[in-house]
Amino acid sequence: MGNCLAQPVENHPSSVKLSSPPAVLAPTCKKPPSTHTISSSSTKDNIIGELEELEATTTSGKIVTPNLKVFSLAELKSATRNFRPDTMLGEGGFGRVFKGWIDEKTLAPSRVGVGMAVAVKKSNPDSEQGLKEWQAEVKFLGKFSHPNLVKLIGYCCCEEKEFLLVYEHMQKGSLERHLFRSNETLSWDTRLKIVIGAARGLTFLHTTEKQVIYRDFKASNILLDEDYNAKLSDFGLAKLGPINGNSHVSTRVVGTYGYAAPEYVASGHLYVNSDVYGFGVVLLEIITGLRVLDLTRPTGQLDLVDWAKPLLPDKRKPRKMMDSKIQGRYPINAAFQIAQLILQCLDSDPKNRPSMGQVLECFRTMQCHQDEQSRAFQRALATSVRRSSEQ
Ligand SMILES: Nc1ncnc2c1ncn2[C@@H]1O[C@H](COP(=O)(O)OP(=O)(O)OP(=O)(O)O)[C@@H](O)[C@H]1O
Ligand SMILES: [Mg+2]
Repeated sequence: MGNCLAQPVENHPSSVKLSSPPAVLAPTCKKPPSTHTISSSSTKDNIIGELEELEATTTSGKIVTPNLKVFSLAELKSATRNFRPDTMLGEGGFGRVFKGWIDEKTLAPSRVGVGMAVAVKKSNPDSEQGLKEWQAEVKFLGKFSHPNLVKLIGYCCCEEKEFLLVYEHMQKGSLERHLFRSNETLSWDTRLKIVIGAARGLTFLHTTEKQVIYRDFKASNILLDEDYNAKLSDFGLAKLGPINGNSHVSTRVVGTYGYAAPEYVASGHLYVNSDVYGFGVVLLEIITGLRVLDLTRPTGQLDLVDWAKPLLPDKRKPRKMMDSKIQGRYPINAAFQIAQLILQCLDSDPKNRPSMGQVLECFRTMQCHQDEQSRAFQRALATSVRRSSEQ
């Protein structure tokens, strides 16, 4: 990028989903009902059409043939001790997520603590979206293998009208919990590690042969393993990118308030770079430790993006916005560079936003500078220690 300076146990709905028509968004900041909105049969046909297209994608090394285990409901009941409430990891629009255990080799249910831990997502029987999101998840995630995408191990469908998905268990849960609902503080370096991991996952999706638009990039969909490696989850809203030289796809507006790009909310025109806007929002949440929308904040600060945008270009002001939990332990130059990157990602015109590849390049450059600076610091430190011992 030319002008890159660098160089819900989560039992609460973490965010509010968008629905068409978009007019219900913001002015009054009233929360609309939390719904997923792909509901018409024509949309269903679209999804199936898209999925068939994806099936036709030639294998390019990173896209793998699905090798998913088909679980029976009885097996998943056994793996989660009949979906016992104390095994619940969280709940979202699709339904509840439970922790279970399966044998690593046979994938048969096992006893607690034996074999490998899995997360079992169970559709809410009242959810109209269950089937469609389940289909999209199986078809997209079942095709991809990447270190920054959560691994789908298998699924179970159509028994007792339930749709279930079985994923690798991510020990540290979601970024949303760590940022907003935990006493633990994420260090600057850990925050950078997480955001770079998530950026890699998104870059991969955008650069697959058939571009994939993720459409639901947000802190609760970024899951963390025990070493804070980030993986994207939730492909229920993913969509194939534009074809035949088109710049965008036109589609119903779905996603999550606060993270969805303005052009998409306003017109239903979805660009690959609409995801970059969501990335900018998450990056802003990561450095400030604040939710994008929070009705408990003072007037003028309810919407983090509106509040932060005028402050980001000023070198002194981003410092005031930094998450106070970091207690000043971050490199000021890098923080300012990130503030500029956020501004670019949040540009109201998708064509002016960087691609995710360019975003990654910025982070790489930033890290190189940081490493150089830290090496220079270590050298200076070593010299000064040597001098003082010689005196
Ligand atoms: N693979 C996993 N490993 C560990 N925890 C998980 C896993 N998948 C989901 N969870 C937990 O379950 C919670 C709910 O996830 P889910 O994706 O259903 O909803 P959400 O992302 O919070 O909301 P939305 O429905 O809007 O996407 C997550 O926030 C996370 O804490
Ligand atoms: Mg989710």
